[in-house]
Amino acid sequence: MKVLVTGGAGFIGSHTVVDLQTSGYEVVVLDNFVNSNRQVLNNIEKITGKRVDFVEGDVRNKTDLDTVFKRYPGIEAVIHFAAYKAVGESVQSPLAYYENNIAGTVYLLQAMKAASLKKIVFSSSCTVYGEVDATLLPITENAPVVKANSPYGNTKKIGEELLLDASKAEGFNVVSLRYFNPIGAHDTALIGELPLGIPNNLVPFITQTAIGKRKELTVFGNDYPTRDGSCIRDYIHVMDLANAHVKAIDYLHTSNENFSVFNIGTGQGNTVLEVVTAFENVTGTILNYKIGPRRAGDVVQIYASCQKAEQELGWKAERTLENALETAWKWEQYLATSPFMD
Ligand code: NAD
Ligand code: UFG
Repeated sequence: MKVLVTGGAGFIGSHTVVDLQTSGYEVVVLDNFVNSNRQVLNNIEKITGKRVDFVEGDVRNKTDLDTVFKRYPGIEAVIHFAAYKAVGESVQSPLAYYENNIAGTVYLLQAMKAASLKKIVFSSSCTVYGEVDATLLPITENAPVVKANSPYGNTKKIGEELLLDASKAEGFNVVSLRYFNPIGAHDTALIGELPLGIPNNLVPFITQTAIGKRKELTVFGNDYPTRDGSCIRDYIHVMDLANAHVKAIDYLHTSNENFSVFNIGTGQGNTVLEVVTAFENVTGTILNYKIGPRRAGDVVQIYASCQKAEQELGWKAERTLENALETAWKWEQYLATSPFMD
């Protein structure tokens, strides 16, 4: 079966392409490389031994979308990763975020409709739950979706809403995966996360500090009402997350549901300081870090109930936090020695 992966050269997309190819799917990637690198596609081939068919193009461009569906007939499902994802940047440039993440999704659905293609997996986020009362943890998919606290978060909320409407009126079959915090890299360290500039996210900041690219990590707050005062998140290995997409494609072909959402996490929450300690233990390095003030907009704690995914998708996270940190570190070391970036 052939699957179109928009944003397939990106962090989560590239790992998903590897799992799809390894699971026997043919993959076509559409990416404009706005936040990724062409070399990623060569490295995927090194891992899987299979060429990745790709179109360099933009989901907002009708001609690019038509090219994909004409050049590669037989696509049966789409996994839609292509989007901007920086929360802070979205506050500065909301229109760019609404254009890429919302308009891009609308154009993709229109092109799919024209190609008589109805199955789509959407990249959503646990950000749709907002600040969660501790009594609701681990959070289930039945928890209310709340007003977003950034334009980026709002694009995920609106994205789910527009897909729900499209499933009702246009016959689309939709699986929306609400990712918790993806980290780590492929075991080979040939693909991983490629943050542009100073990383916003915890784990790339940790690995860049350990390798000497950053002077020190600032832990954003140690006065939260948690076991050690730092925030709690559900850190999921990107290869586990990738596999959830393969399961979601299988589900789209067997289920009678038109619209389903699933939490994709490990079910376990870790504090920022626990992640730092785990990184030090796994890598045998001492991380230079300090405690700083809270970061505006951070939720105190969130972690997933993954029972629905386990029961209905037949998916469950298998890897540990330690394994994720080990692979993230291997990837950072690979980046330091290879001319990966053009
Ligand atoms: P990423 O930036 O690494 O990957 C996105 C890819 O899409 C990149 O290769 C980029 O070049 C491409 N792209 C962006 N706009 C495009 C467009 N208009 N046309 C074609 N290609 C385009 O991001 P990621 O971390 O892999 O995230 C993938 C998806 O998962 C995004 O939708 C993101 O919002 C969502 N998500 C990510 C996280 C996370 O922490 N990484 C958490 C929740 C949800
Ligand atoms: N953190 C630090 N120092 C840093 C970076 C992060 O202490 O330098 C802390 C944050 O305060 C937070 C935790 O590490 O407590 C995780 O932060 P990330 O930025 O890695 O992840 P977030 O949970 O804030 O954000 C992620 C995605 C967003 C998504 C959000 C949904 O990056 O795209 O989850 O909750 F919207």
